[in-house]
Amino acid sequence: MNDVIKTILDRRSCRKFINKPIPQDDLDEIMKAAVAAPTAMNTQRWIFTVIDDRKIIQNLASAMAKALDRPGYDMYDPQVLIIPSTPAELPYGIDDCACALENIFLAATSLGIDSCWINQMRLCVDDPEIRKILDEFKIPRDYTIYGMAILGYPQEQEFKEIKRVGVVNFIK
Ligand SMILES: Cc1cc2nc3c(=O)[nH]c(=O)nc-3n(C[C@H](O)[C@H](O)[C@H](O)COP(=O)(O)O)c2cc1C
Repeated sequence: MNDVIKTILDRRSCRKFINKPIPQDDLDEIMKAAVAAPTAMNTQRWIFTVIDDRKIIQNLASAMAKALDRPGYDMYDPQVLIIPSTPAELPYGIDDCACALENIFLAATSLGIDSCWINQMRLCVDDPEIRKILDEFKIPRDYTIYGMAILGYPQEQEFKEIKRVGVVNFIK
């Protein structure tokens, strides 16, 4: 098995992180992989906001907890949060960002960094208090957010095995 396929098979969602910074060089490589993702008609209409500060992430998570009425919501308290945003009117923006997110997860895995998709921002992206924070991150008001990536070093290495059940039909 080659290294790329091994990385794909090794990737797992992590939801408990230790407090340990991720080297800037690794973040740079991960973001290089993000922007190398395919986009529909090569539009590349996206902005990636990388938040490398646990307090700033928790400030956003608290605002989301309020907006979503989910007390205690903390996005699993990650080391780094990556927010891909894209013009709300772009028909394939959601697909473009999903491709970038998978590249982020795989690049992170290859560097020994764990990750998880965070889906709740799409439910509250236009909440006024959330928008105020996104303004501070320089995310334009006409951009929306679908999924986000959290990164960090895992608290537990053991992941429950998941049975993969995709139906694969070969037609020859
Ligand atoms: C579109 C999408 C949304 C997801 N949203 C969340 C989420 O909000 N929180 C979470 O803990 N995991 C989320 N996940 C991760 C899935 O739960 C996870 O990929 C799945 O359980 C399989 O586990 P694995 O990633 O370890 O293979 C999401 C995954 C996808 C593709």
